[in-house]
Amino acid sequence: MTIPTLSFLPLFLLLLFSTTFTLSSSMDCNKIDRAVLLSIKQQLGNPSELAAWLPATNCCTWFNVYCTDTGRVNGVYLSSLNVSSPLPPALGNLPELTGIQIEIMPGLFGPIPTSFSKLSHLEYLQISGTSVSGSIPAFLTHTNLGVLVLTNNKLSGPIPKALSGLSNLRYLDLSGNSLSGSIPPGLLHQKSRFLMLSNNKLTGEIPRDYSNGDIDTIDLSHNRLTGNPSFLFGIAKPMTKIDLSWNELEFDMTHVMFPFHLTYLDLSHNRIKGRVAKSLKDLKLSNFNVSYNELCGEIPTGRYMAGHGADCYLHNKCLCGTPLPPCSGGN
Ligand SMILES: *[C@@H]1O[C@H](CO)[C@@H](O)[C@H](O)[C@H]1NC(C)=O
Ligand SMILES: *[C@@H]1O[C@H](CO)[C@@H](O)[C@H](O)[C@H]1NC(C)=O
Repeated sequence: MTIPTLSFLPLFLLLLFSTTFTLSSSMDCNKIDRAVLLSIKQQLGNPSELAAWLPATNCCTWFNVYCTDTGRVNGVYLSSLNVSSPLPPALGNLPELTGIQIEIMPGLFGPIPTSFSKLSHLEYLQISGTSVSGSIPAFLTHTNLGVLVLTNNKLSGPIPKALSGLSNLRYLDLSGNSLSGSIPPGLLHQKSRFLMLSNNKLTGEIPRDYSNGDIDTIDLSHNRLTGNPSFLFGIAKPMTKIDLSWNELEFDMTHVMFPFHLTYLDLSHNRIKGRVAKSLKDLKLSNFNVSYNELCGEIPTGRYMAGHGADCYLHNKCLCGTPLPPCSGGN
C-alpha cells in the first residue's frame, strides 16, 4: 500500500489518521468488510479508478482503504472518481468505520443515506464537492463525530439543533450549501474549535456562547446574519481567524479590543459604524479587510497598521488619513 502524503489527505490525516488508522497491510481484510466494499464499488457503477478492488485480494491493500490491525475496515477515502450515482448506502455496513472522506465527485448525488446511522464509531465525516442534497439528517447525532465536514454540496434546510448533542464535535464545516435558519447554540465542544458555515443562507443573530471556549476559527462569511457580534471579540480570546464578511452585522468598532492572536480578520460588507479600532495597531494580521462598511474618521497609524493598503478600507462613510487621503478638518 502506498503511504499517503500529508498534502494528499489533509484533514483525514492531520485530525485522525495518525491516532486511529493503521497503515499495516500484513493482516488480511475481514471477508464481510471486503464484500461490503465490493458492493460500494458496484453502487458507484464500477468506476475505472477502483479497478484494483477485486474479490480474493486483501482489501487492506486497496488504494485508500484503511484497516485496523485486526483487518477491519475503519477508513474509506474516495476522491475525484468519475461516477454518476447516489452516495452508496453500503458505506453504512462497515461497522468499524471511524472516518469517511469523499470529495470532488460532482456526479455523486442524493441525500445522506439513513444507513449511516449504524456507524456508531464514526469520528470523522467529510463529504465535499458533490451533489449530495437534502437536509442534514438528525441521526448523525448518534455517532461519536469529532469532525463533520459537509462542504460544497446542495444541502438545504436548517442546521439540526440536535447536532449540539455531539459532545465530541469540535470541527464543523458546512460551508457552501444552502442551509437556512439561525445558527443553533452549543454546536462545538472540546479543545481547538472550528466553526465554518460560510456561503449559506443563514439568518438571525450569532449565539452568544461562541464567544466562550477554545475557539480557533470562526468563518460565517456570505450569509445574512444580523445583530451585534462584538461579544466575539476580546483581547484574551484564543481566536486566530474571524471572517464575518458579507453579512448584515452592525456594531460600533471604535473601542473594540480584537483578540491578540488574530492573523485573519475580514469584516467587509457589513454595517459597521464608528472609527477603525486603535487596538488593531497591535495585531499582526496577514489578512485584514473592513471595506464596504459605514466607518468614519482618521485611520490609526503606527505598529502593524502600515501593512494595510487602501483596498482594506474601500467604500466606507468618511474614512481618512494614511493610506487614504489626509483628513480635512471636521473628521
Ligand atoms: C466519465 O465516465 C463517462 C461514462 O462512463 C465517460 O463517458 C467519460 O468519458 C468519463 N470522463 C472522464 C473524464 O474520464
Ligand atoms: C477587501 O474587500 C473588498 C470588497 O470585497 C475588495 O475589493 C478588496 O480587494 C479587499 N481588500 C483586500 C486587501 O483584501
